[in-house]
Amino acid sequence: MLPLNLHHTAIAVRDLDKALREVATLFGVEPLTREIVDEQGVEEAMVPFGGSFLQLLMPLDADTPVGRFLDRRGEGLHHVAIQVADIDAALAHLESDGVELVDRTPRSGGGGNRIAFVHPRALSGTLIELIEVH
Ligand code: CO
Repeated sequence: MLPLNLHHTAIAVRDLDKALREVATLFGVEPLTREIVDEQGVEEAMVPFGGSFLQLLMPLDADTPVGRFLDRRGEGLHHVAIQVADIDAALAHLESDGVELVDRTPRSGGGGNRIAFVHPRALSGTLIELIEVH
């Protein structure tokens, strides 16, 4: 699998408006997109940083993966997203190597992109997202 780019770094937050104000204060940057992604149970904002993004994730309610993450771990780093050209090929490659996957088939992420998560046990406790950008 050839990684194309470190596409985004995602932070879980309780208050998206507050987090966006903090990012604007720190770096003077505004979100490129902001949307509700029902399939992930989040409202997310993508803030451009050169060739990469900071993704801010706010759960739509407590009983979602990001809501449970906030209860367990509090706000902070949630995942790192690696862009690949062909997510189906990347998943097949990882599965054949015996890598533990959260998603064996891609699902819909923000912006109509296809995403899949690799289990944190595969990389030092860090949740990795694969993303195929459209
Ligand atoms: Co992400």
